[in-house]
Amino acid sequence: MNTSMPVKNLTQLREMKNRHEKIACLTAYDASFAALSAAAGVDVLLVGDSLGMVVQGQDSTVPVTLDEMIYHTQAVRRGAPESFVIADMPFMSYATPQDTVNNAARLMREGLAQMVKLEGGAWLLDSIRMLAERGIPVCTHLGLTPQSVHQLGGYRVQGRSQDEAQQILTDALALQEAGASLLVLECVPATLAQEVTANLSIPTIGIGAGVDCDGQVLVVYDMLGLTLGHTPSFVKNFMQGQESVSAALSAYVQAVKQQTFPSAEQSF
Ligand code: KIV
Repeated sequence: MNTSMPVKNLTQLREMKNRHEKIACLTAYDASFAALSAAAGVDVLLVGDSLGMVVQGQDSTVPVTLDEMIYHTQAVRRGAPESFVIADMPFMSYATPQDTVNNAARLMREGLAQMVKLEGGAWLLDSIRMLAERGIPVCTHLGLTPQSVHQLGGYRVQGRSQDEAQQILTDALALQEAGASLLVLECVPATLAQEVTANLSIPTIGIGAGVDCDGQVLVVYDMLGLTLGHTPSFVKNFMQGQESVSAALSAYVQAVKQQTFPSAEQSF
């Protein structure tokens, strides 16, 4: 059982970055896993639209709807009433700035999320400004953005070329300037994630982005070894050697805090 105080707000997340304390984040889709994760000391719960794949059995996150995201966010909130909860905005729910504000408001008002997450770069700047100005905290997501899988042509590492890396850094700075308070970096070279993290005042949360991000996130089903089929190379199965789900969740938190996860093997 974890005895540290739960993260309640963005100020605390920013303070963690400033004092170099790593932020442990995991996805959660239901009340039970949310409660177990909170008890294990997970700092931030992300209701990811990855639920489309691991809960619904879809091929991608594209079919997930806003109503489904609200339903799962409500369940997570009930299971972990004290936790900092981020809800993913699903595919096409933020295609225009006005849609973004209306749909983010539903995730906050009905789902009781504290923050919403959107995937993308410069095209999101107006929407992010609108959200931030209206008091809705924003997490953005760069690198491999799964909702664009059909355009990206598969789940591939992003930012390997100098031009792509520069674009990600430029986008990250612009997103921060527009009002984003957190940035997820997915499947990018560790050196790029380190550079982005060093250049931002907002925390970065990595997934397949090396150990130098300010925090880490994994899909909870992946890190418990529950995912059928392909498991990405950046995932570690924390159930191995543990006797309970709670012990595996605590091992993940410790590994993130002590920077033993991700290792070079789990990075690009
Ligand atoms: O949907 C999700 O679970 C995510 C994380 C993998 C970052 O966006």
